[in-house]
Amino acid sequence: MVFEKTLAEIVDENYVYARALHYLGISFFEEPNKALSEICKERGLNREKVIKSFYLFDGCSRLSFNEIKSYPIDLLVEYLKHSHHLFIKDKLPFIIHLAENCEEKQEIQKLLPEFVEDFIRHIYDEEDSVFKYVQILDKSSKGVISNPISQLLPFGNFSLAHEFEHHREDDEMRAIRSLIEAFEPKSLKERVLVQEVKAFDREMLYHAAIENEIFFPKALKLEEEVYSLLRKKSSLN
Ligand SMILES: [Fe+2]
Ligand SMILES: [Fe+2]
Repeated sequence: MVFEKTLAEIVDENYVYARALHYLGISFFEEPNKALSEICKERGLNREKVIKSFYLFDGCSRLSFNEIKSYPIDLLVEYLKHSHHLFIKDKLPFIIHLAENCEEKQEIQKLLPEFVEDFIRHIYDEEDSVFKYVQILDKSSKGVISNPISQLLPFGNFSLAHEFEHHREDDEMRAIRSLIEAFEPKSLKERVLVQEVKAFDREMLYHAAIENEIFFPKALKLEEEVYSLLRKKSSLN
């Protein structure tokens, strides 16, 4: 029974449970040798809630490529924004929390803030320019906005094709990936850190692939359609 196990045993069996525990307000490395039942009793945690959170973090909520491909572009934008939100609010804070509590932190500590900054900038740039621009295109194609040109005007020299090119070459994880590959964990906490960074890297690769292979091609096609429609309209006027 999972409640009779110590926190270290639970995390050792499945590192994902470290994040589930964190979500419940428990740092597994603070009292690794305490049984989960003891912790629950001390903190008045409901066992059902604990099991639910384990189940939640264990479940693979990843949608398949084909499923995502069938999404209309407005839903695709919402899906990507939701993933951004999870990266920033859920996954990254836990990695930072683990790194802060690592014994051997010199290199990781130097690299992590830099990486987080780059990563957050990437996300906000994407949401504030690319996604916004595409949402205007989508609305104009549906005839929801009456004067699309006035809404597209503030984007000035913005080029979706250029953004796409840049996005395909981007790899913010490069530095941290090579660091973590060479990193030899000496404790369970460090092992969880390594696993979490690797899992984050895998998710980032998947996320970027969705953007590069599904989102940008769809958006470029939409851009072409909208502009040809606008050209036709202006030639009629
Ligand atoms: Fe993104
Ligand atoms: Fe991106």
